[in-house]
Amino acid sequence: MRQNRVVDLLQGGECGTPVTVKGWVRSVRAGREIAFIALNDGSCLVSLQVVVEKSLEGFAEICRIATGSAVAVDGTLRQSPAEGQTLELAAGRLELIGAADEAYPLQKKRHSFEYLRTIAHLRPRTNTFGAVFRVRSSLAHAVHRFFAERGFLYVHTPIITASDCEGAGEMFRVTTLSSQAPPLPAGTVDCSEDFFGRPTSLTVSGQLEGELFAQAFADIYTFGPTFRAENSNTARHAAEFWMIEPEMAFADLLDDARLAEDFFRYLCRHVLENCSEDMTFFDAQIEKGLLERVRRVADSAFEIMEYSEAVRRLEHAPVSFQFPVAWGVDLQSEHERYITEKIVNGPVFLINYPQDIKAFYMRQNNDGRTVAAMDLLVPKVGEIIGGSQREERLDLLTERMLATGIDPAALWWYLDTRRWGSTPHAGFGLGFERLIMYLTGMENIRDVIPFPRTPRHAEF
Ligand code: 4AD
Ligand code: MG
Repeated sequence: MRQNRVVDLLQGGECGTPVTVKGWVRSVRAGREIAFIALNDGSCLVSLQVVVEKSLEGFAEICRIATGSAVAVDGTLRQSPAEGQTLELAAGRLELIGAADEAYPLQKKRHSFEYLRTIAHLRPRTNTFGAVFRVRSSLAHAVHRFFAERGFLYVHTPIITASDCEGAGEMFRVTTLSSQAPPLPAGTVDCSEDFFGRPTSLTVSGQLEGELFAQAFADIYTFGPTFRAENSNTARHAAEFWMIEPEMAFADLLDDARLAEDFFRYLCRHVLENCSEDMTFFDAQIEKGLLERVRRVADSAFEIMEYSEAVRRLEHAPVSFQFPVAWGVDLQSEHERYITEKIVNGPVFLINYPQDIKAFYMRQNNDGRTVAAMDLLVPKVGEIIGGSQREERLDLLTERMLATGIDPAALWWYLDTRRWGSTPHAGFGLGFERLIMYLTGMENIRDVIPFPRTPRHAEF
C-alpha cells in the first residue's frame, strides 16, 4: 500500500496500528517539547493531527516546516486527548517531501472567494474548495449510478459539431485555418479548406446525437462538457459547463418530468447520505439551513405549473420586476425566482411554453401556439433543468425548422429518425454546476467548477 488515507484512519482506524500518511501541512504549532502538525490529504475535510515529540530526530527542523509543505509521516494511531477529534498520529518518522515558504498564499487567515479565483491552482487546498470538489466528484458518480440502476445506456456524444442544437448561435468556432492569412477567395473565409471541410464548433448540447441513440436503445443519457459563447457575465453562466442529458423513446412530457424529479431527488438524497461531513460544513459556513432545505426537497413532490398560469400569477404579483412580463416573453431570472421562491416555495416544473421562445425540436401542442417544453425551477438558482417532448412528426418538424431559419438539408440525419421508426420521445438537460450550487449553497458558478471559463477568463 502506498499510504493510508486520512478519511479511512479517522473513520475506522484502530489505536496502536502503524500507518503512513502523506499530505500537505495546513499549520504547525511548535512548542519547546512538542509540535502539532495539521495534515490534510484532501480525502476529507478535517486534517489529521500529527504529534511530534522532541525526541524525534530532526525535531528543530520539523518545527520550522512551513504551511503548504508536502510531508510523509510514519507513526502510530492513538486516542487524542484534544477536543473535537478522537484519533491522532504519534509521529515515528517525518520526511519533508516538498517544502513551501512564507510566500505560499494560503496562510491561515480566511480569503475571499474573489481572491481565491485568482489562485484557482491552489484553492483546492482550502476547506471550502476541498468540500466543493469532493461533492462534485461524488455527484458525478451518483449520476452514473442513477442511470445505470435504471438501465440507461451511456453515450459519448461528440464535442466538435457542425450543428447548433439550440439554434441560438452561441457557438465557439473550431478551426485550423490560419488566423493571419485564412483563405479568402470571395472575401469570406473558405471553410472547404478547413480541417473538416466545413464550419464546425464546440457543441452546446449533446441532445441531437442523444436522440439518435434513443431511437436504438430507448433510454440513454450523455454527461459531458458543453460550450456556450453567450456573453452573459452572471453568477449562473459559464462558457464551459457540464450537462447531463437523458433521452427516452416511447415517452411524453409527463414521463420526462417524472424522470427529472426522481433524478433530482436522488441526487439530493445522495449528498445527504454520502457527503455528510462536507454538507455539514456548507450548512455551517456557506448557507445556514442548507441541510434542512435539501432534506425538504428530497422528500417533496414537485409541482407542475403551466407557463400561462405562471405569467398570470406574475402579472398579479405585488412587486415590480425590472423586465415586464406578458404572455409570450421569455422569463427572466427574477421571474423564475419569484415563481419558485415566493409563489411555490419549492421546486416547480413550468410546462407548455410559447413556441416562439423555444428551440425548433420541441413538440407542438394542439393549441397551435405552445410546445411541450418543461423547465425545472428551484429556489436560489432559478432554471436548473431544461427539457421537452420532441417533435416526432416529420412534416411538423420540417415546418418548424424552416420557420426558425434552420436548413433541413443540413440536419438530414436528424430528420431520418422521423422517417423510419419515429417514436414519441422526450428528454432534458441538467446543468451540473447549477446542481452543485444548489446543493452546496455556493452562490457563484465560478466556485463550483475547477477552472471556470467566463468572458475574458481562461487563465488556468
Ligand atoms: O435549457 P438548455 O439550454 O437546454 C438544452 O441544452 C437542451 N438541449 C437540453 C435537453 O433537452 N437535452 O440547458 C439545459 C441546462 C439549463 O437548465 C442550465 O441548468 C444549464 O443547462 N445551462 C448552463 N449552465 C451553466 N452555464 C450556462 N451558460 C448554461 N446554459 C445552460
Ligand atoms: Mg433552458
